[in-house]
Amino acid sequence: MVSTPHATGYVTGSLPDDREVHYQAEKAKGGVGWQFMGATTVVRNQGYPWLRANVDDTIVPIYRRIAAAVHAHGGVIGAPTHPRRRDGRRQRARDTAPRTLPDRQ
Ligand SMILES: Cc1cc2nc3c(=O)[nH]c(=O)nc-3n(C[C@H](O)[C@H](O)[C@H](O)COP(=O)(O)O)c2cc1C
Repeated sequence: MVSTPHATGYVTGSLPDDREVHYQAEKAKGGVGWQFMGATTVVRNQGYPWLRANVDDTIVPIYRRIAAAVHAHGGVIGAPTHPRRRDGRRQRARDTAPRTLPDRQ
């Protein structure tokens, strides 16, 4: 069973929180074998406060917790990025690369 991406809103500040850990773990526990978190912006405060922001390594510990909770039930999880700018327009491809680029917004 696959669970496609959808925003949960389980975000505190710009990072996923304990609710997201629990939510994703429960899906894996319930039998989902391959699941995805909702969109993850690549620029902080991109105009979507309910989406997590992956702009630096501060997101790594909670990603590790979510992955571990899913793996504990035999699942696999991914976190798609959301290539839109604060004004809602799509970012150019070079702006959606891994964050070696400075946050210009
Ligand atoms: C990055 C990303 C984020 C998404 N976020 C949502 C969402 O928040 N809510 C939603 O209903 N679908 C969202 N979708 C679409 C769903 O994952 C799914 O593809 C869509 O609901 C169609 O499902 P279906 O093919 O089973 O009808 C998102 C898809 C992607 C790729």
